[in-house]
Amino acid sequence: MGDKLLIRDVPDRVRTWIESERRTRRMSQKEFVLEALERACDGNQPTLFDGAARVLPLPHGIPFTFCDLFAGIGGLRVGFQRAGGTCVFTSEWNKYAQKTYHRWFGEEPKGDITKIRPKDIPEHDVLVAGFPCQPFSIAGVSKKNSLGYAHGFKCLTQGTLFFDIVNIVEVKRPPVLVLENVKNLKSHDQGRTWKVIRSNLEELKYWVFDKVLDAADFGVPQHRERVFIVCFDRKEFRDSPVFEFPEPINASPRLRDVLEPSPPKHYTLSDHLWEYLQEYAKRHAEKGNGFGFGLADLNGITRTLSARYYKDGSEILIPQKRKNPRRLTPREAARLMGFDAEVARFLGFRDELPIVVSDTQAYRQFGNAVVPAVSTAVARQVVKVLCRHFTENRRCLLKSAAGGSRR
Ligand SMILES: C[S@@+](CC[C@H](N)C(=O)[O-])C[C@H]1O[C@@H](n2cnc3c(N)ncnc32)[C@H](O)[C@@H]1O
Repeated sequence: MGDKLLIRDVPDRVRTWIESERRTRRMSQKEFVLEALERACDGNQPTLFDGAARVLPLPHGIPFTFCDLFAGIGGLRVGFQRAGGTCVFTSEWNKYAQKTYHRWFGEEPKGDITKIRPKDIPEHDVLVAGFPCQPFSIAGVSKKNSLGYAHGFKCLTQGTLFFDIVNIVEVKRPPVLVLENVKNLKSHDQGRTWKVIRSNLEELKYWVFDKVLDAADFGVPQHRERVFIVCFDRKEFRDSPVFEFPEPINASPRLRDVLEPSPPKHYTLSDHLWEYLQEYAKRHAEKGNGFGFGLADLNGITRTLSARYYKDGSEILIPQKRKNPRRLTPREAARLMGFDAEVARFLGFRDELPIVVSDTQAYRQFGNAVVPAVSTAVARQVVKVLCRHFTENRRCLLKSAAGGSRR
C-alpha cells in the first residue's frame, strides 16, 4: 500500500459509512480507514485475506439503512445517522417541520403516512418512528378529557397511527424497529394501551425491549423521560439478541451552560402575564395540586420542554435579577434539547443549526423532538447487535435501498 491509501471501487454504502464515521470522530478518511484496519489486525480478526473467514468485521459499526417516520425535525434521525445509518425515506406532514427538516438534512419529507402505501416505502434495515404522543401524554390526555374528547387509541386522528406502523411492518419486515413515545404510554388507560402495543409487536413476531430513558442522563440539562421500544425480527434473530439499553453517561449538565448571554428583552414576561401565572399557581396550590410555573435552577436541570411552550413558557422560566423572569429563546430551547453546535457540525453547519421558522413553530418543533444524544446512544446499542449478528452469522442483514433483496 506504500504511504498512499487509495480507496477505489468501494460500494456506496461502505463509503457513506466511512464518511459518517470519520466525520463523527473528526478524522480524515485515511486516518479512519487505517485505524479500522489496525484494530482488525491488533485484534487478530479475520480479514479478507484469511481463507477461513471471508468477511472483514467492521470495528466501530456497520452500514445500514433506515426510515424516519413521524420525523419532526429529525432528533431520531441524527442519532441513527451518527451511528452509521443512511436514511432512505422520511415522512412528516407538518409544513413547518418539513421546512426545518429540509434545511438541516437537505431532504423534503413525504407527507401524511396514512396516505402512503407501505409497498412504496423503500426496503430498510431499521424502522424508526417517534409516533405522535399527544393521545397518550399526561397533558394531552387531561386536555382531551376536559374537552370531552377521546384519547389514546380512541382518538381517531392520532391514536391509531401506531396501526399504520403495524401495516408497514407487515409489508416491509424491517429487521429492527425503534419506536419512541412519552413515558405515559406505558401507564395510559391502566396499562391497556401498552398491552395492545406490545402484543401487536409480538404477534408480528418481533422480540420486544423497552425502557424509559431520561435525557438528563445523557448530558442535556432537562428532565425528559421517553419510552424507547426496540424490536428485532424473530425470523432474522432466531434467539433473542443480547440488546442492552444505553447506560447514563457521567455528566452533570447545568441549565446555565445553554443560556444566551444577552437574550432580547421581549422574552421577559410582561407584568400582566407574570402576575397571572403567580395567581394561577397560588389557586392550584390551595387546591393541593402542583400545577404552575416552574422557575428553573440555573445550576440544575429544567422540567420537560413541551410542544406548548410557545403559549406562555410557564414550565421553564429563567429567573432574572431585578426583573420578571423570562422564557427561553428558541436557540436556548434548541440547546436544551441537545440540538447544539456539535449536532450542527455533524450536519455540516459551521456554527449552530439554522432556525428557519417563527418562534412559535420553533418551540413546537423542539418541544416535540427527541434529544439527539439519547437517540445516538440507543442507535449505537442497536448497531452493536447488528455487528454481532453480522460477525456471528457471517452474513449481513442489510436490505438494499433501491432493490429489496438482502445482501
Ligand atoms: C413526537 S413528534 C416526532 C419527533 C421526531 N420523531 C424526532 O425524532 O424528533 C411526532 C410528529 O409526527 C408528525 N405527524 C403526526 N401525524 C402524522 C401523519 N399522519 N403523517 C406524518 N407525520 C405525522 C407530527 O407533525 C410530529 O412532528
